Amino acid sequence: MPALEMLDVRKTYPSGDVEIVALEHASLSVGTDEIVALVGPSGSGKTTLISIAGGLLGPSSGQVRVGDEEITGYSPKQLTEFRRRRVGFVFQSVNLVPFLTALENLLVVSAFSRRDGKAAKERAERLLTELGLAGRMGNLPGQLSGGERQRVAIGRALMNEPELILVDEPTSALDTALGDQVMELIVSEVKQRGTAAVIVTHDPRMTHYADRTVAITDGRLSA
Ligand SMILES: Nc1ncnc2c1ncn2[C@@H]1O[C@H](COP(=O)(O)OP(=O)(O)OP(=O)(O)O)[C@@H](O)[C@H]1O
Ligand SMILES: [Mg+2]
Repeated sequence: MPALEMLDVRKTYPSGDVEIVALEHASLSVGTDEIVALVGPSGSGKTTLISIAGGLLGPSSGQVRVGDEEITGYSPKQLTEFRRRRVGFVFQSVNLVPFLTALENLLVVSAFSRRDGKAAKERAERLLTELGLAGRMGNLPGQLSGGERQRVAIGRALMNEPELILVDEPTSALDTALGDQVMELIVSEVKQRGTAAVIVTHDPRMTHYADRTVAITDGRLSA
């Protein structure tokens, strides 16, 4: 069973009197253990696609399945619960809680999981260390660089061992010397835990970590 299956997904946004077609006939299947890089020009539908894959947006038509769960007809409440259980998102615009430290930004999501406090703290510290942030755990987001904030967001997305990791262009987190270390962490989480990942990126250094690259142009996918 694929970890993610999108079948003939269409997504339109209302825009005044017209409709913007952001996705058309989008079908994508991602296996467990698989990392797919999603590449395409600005406005081609990348963020829309991963938002629908992770249940953050509903498709206008088509089907979305994550593991054994068909999420297509879910209510907003069901989607919120689904995302919390199964999905780790890293957004283009990093949205950390500004009054919590880097470490607390990871721990705050674990409050919803089964992990006990000590195990959660150990995992959060290990993730931040592997992300090159060992010395920054006590800093507030405002005291971190943009790339450091993106790396905290990656740690937060991995915190609860999601089945599906969705990453939207974490460019500045990855264009440093640490980029390879960050990608290796994502790869090891995917391969060890049987997770699936879709990573939006233009960076050839990152696509090289992916098992497969899928291109998107004007809302249409091509291998
Ligand atoms: N909320 C919205 N309302 C109306 N149109 C939208 C909305 N969100 C996205 N769009 C439009 O849908 C299309 C796809 O947008 P999307 O954000 O998925 O592109 P993208 O590939 O992620 O681009 P970028 O690389 O710039 O992040 C674009 O034409 C965009 O203007
Ligand atoms: Mg985008």
